[in-house]
Amino acid sequence: MFEHIERVPGDAILGLIEAFKKDTNPQKVDLGVGVYRDAEGNTPVMRAVKEAEARLLKNETTKTYIGSHGAPAYGEVVLPMVLGENSPVLDANRASATQSPGGTGALRLAADFIATQLPDKGIWVSDPTWPNHHGIFTAAGIALHKYPYVDADNRLDFDGMLAALKQIPEGDVVVLHACCHNPTGFDLSKEQWHTVLEVVRERHLLPLIDFAYQGFGEGLDEDAYGVRLMAEELDEVIITSSCSKNFGIYCERTGCLIMVAKNSEQMENIRSQIAIAARENYSNPPAHGGAIVSDILHDDELTAVWHEELTEMRDRINTLRRDFVEALKPYGLDDKYACVAEQRGMFSYTGLTPEQVDRLRDEFGIYMVRSGRANVAGFSHENLPYLAKAIATVNGK
Ligand code: LMR
Repeated sequence: MFEHIERVPGDAILGLIEAFKKDTNPQKVDLGVGVYRDAEGNTPVMRAVKEAEARLLKNETTKTYIGSHGAPAYGEVVLPMVLGENSPVLDANRASATQSPGGTGALRLAADFIATQLPDKGIWVSDPTWPNHHGIFTAAGIALHKYPYVDADNRLDFDGMLAALKQIPEGDVVVLHACCHNPTGFDLSKEQWHTVLEVVRERHLLPLIDFAYQGFGEGLDEDAYGVRLMAEELDEVIITSSCSKNFGIYCERTGCLIMVAKNSEQMENIRSQIAIAARENYSNPPAHGGAIVSDILHDDELTAVWHEELTEMRDRINTLRRDFVEALKPYGLDDKYACVAEQRGMFSYTGLTPEQVDRLRDEFGIYMVRSGRANVAGFSHENLPYLAKAIATVNGK
């Protein structure tokens, strides 16, 4: 039965973790998978998380199922974090939260919902986008299309994006990145969000907003600008949120699918369908990550600690972006890579070619995705001179 099954290459992003581990170069640098790293290159457990876990261990009384929508206490804190404390969407009871195994789990629930409830709709993703968007939507059987996002000079191609959005068939789904665009780091300005909103409204498109990096761009509220705008202005929006990154609880897979409907009645109808999608995929989400998040956000003191830590991470990334460009100055490459200081979030689309990326790996032990995407959190003041020299070398400097 199994004789005909072919071996396929592993996931390009996750594969970098293994390849990096095996490399014996003492100067190796990991700019691959999107996890935060501190100055020592570690991904520590956040202080607020450690404290919440200690309390959980002491106070937890049961490990019984938490239900297909997850813990109500988790949804209660995620909804205002994403939609805003005084959101009119929440006042109108038009948003439903479903705890999911990571942002990826939320995307898969959204994909199954689209495939079963809106079966004739296509889905449009930015070119480029997180490669797993392709995998998830295609696996659910949805026809996938692309709209341009970056031009040949490695800048945000907003005109190209807009022109393409205007051609999308009415009613199709358009995937937008709320902030910290993965893989490019190019985000929409407030004004651009308003322009996109108008096109979405005119074409009756359904926005699916991927919100995996809230707090890593400009701030928790600032990063939510486009999400809140769309949710408040439109009748229907799908949001896939993640707490895996901003709470540093990657392995606890802590996401949330937020479905915004026209009114409370329709929201409940949709919610009943999402429960089935969750049941058929994994039944109930894992509880631990959601319990950490809800314990932190239900406690003012822990919330303050978490805010401080998240701000530290964001500031460190943004400082490293500027220092990276500075480090390239002696090689005359600061203009070429100036975009790195302008982009936001963990990722930068550097403009390095696949061949240059291969050389960086083979000659210098520097690992990044072949598209030229670098995880900026992997930069450090210690490795920047080495990185700059290596990048100069592959640029023939
Ligand atoms: C990434 O893009 O590196 C992260 O979102 C991790 C992943 O699952 O790919």
